[in-house]
Amino acid sequence: MNIQKLIETTKMLVADNKGLLAMDESNPTCNKRFAKLSIPQTEEARRAYRELIITTPSLGEYISGAILYDETIRQHKKDGTPFIKVLSNAGILIGIKVDIGAKDMAGHSGEKITEGLDGLRDRLKEYFQMGARFAKWRAVISIGDRFPSRGCIEANSQALARYAALCQEVGLVPIVEPEVLMDSEHTIERCYKVTEEVLHTVFNNLYTQRVMLEGIILKPSMVLSGLTCSAQASVDEVANDTVNCLLRNVPAAVSGIAFLSGGQSSELASARLNAMNLRFKSRSPWALTFSFARAIQQPALDIWQGKEANVSEAQQALLHRAKCNWAARQGEYKAAMEGSGV
Ligand code: 13P
Repeated sequence: MNIQKLIETTKMLVADNKGLLAMDESNPTCNKRFAKLSIPQTEEARRAYRELIITTPSLGEYISGAILYDETIRQHKKDGTPFIKVLSNAGILIGIKVDIGAKDMAGHSGEKITEGLDGLRDRLKEYFQMGARFAKWRAVISIGDRFPSRGCIEANSQALARYAALCQEVGLVPIVEPEVLMDSEHTIERCYKVTEEVLHTVFNNLYTQRVMLEGIILKPSMVLSGLTCSAQASVDEVANDTVNCLLRNVPAAVSGIAFLSGGQSSELASARLNAMNLRFKSRSPWALTFSFARAIQQPALDIWQGKEANVSEAQQALLHRAKCNWAARQGEYKAAMEGSGV
């Protein structure tokens, strides 16, 4: 393991107020989003959409790394240029989703365990040789009356830690993503408690599996009221609870924290990230940045609708979201930026 190289990669991923663009939806997830907009669910449509994203002019000014899916990392632009080359030319580091999805967990009705450890070492080596420099693995924790269970949190945390150790062995920075889902009616206090237990367990397992914390990026969910909870926390409450929860449970050695958006609206995700940086930047030991998929991509996808004529307008919408989140990293995002095309 080349520790110095791993640290260099993490530093590049969080440098210059940039963030990550998650565009690693699996084929079924991507197809589901296409179906809602009546876009054909074909390999060619997925390729065309990903070409739209990565050829967005000036994207590299706001995005440090893009997380790809196995199909995407092997694809080319219509003119034959490999996607990997397009991203490298834009100064964007290449990341790859390496888990194979969250599956029903035996003995734990309603809960999921993320799979993909078998054969992972060889897959990671191949991705590294293709040019990837970081990877992603997402664990999913649901909140309900009877869960999350200890068994689910432990099993997912151990898998995350084993994945992270394998990544570091081959020279890939692991993005460690324990997502506490927001689609339920829980209060923000409950989300705080669950997130705390999850983070604590994840870092315990990272320690046990000898993962070097300077060489990882944590990708957590924000601490939020559940989507259908009648009491919705304010932007400042979300910022306070999220960063306090992280301060109490994430070692300062971790290089960066890059949030997922989890189904929040694009504007709320930017506003909440902004509030965190505004209130905590001076005393946060880590960069607080973004690794959004939906909160960056959705407006662009809505505009594109699978039509060539809409590509340029969709790219502007994508760039706008990247810019808003880049501003949020500096505590300089303002609601007035929305609709202004800034
Ligand atoms: P969302 O921002 O849409 O939650 O996606 C982030 C991600 O990468 C999920 O694994």
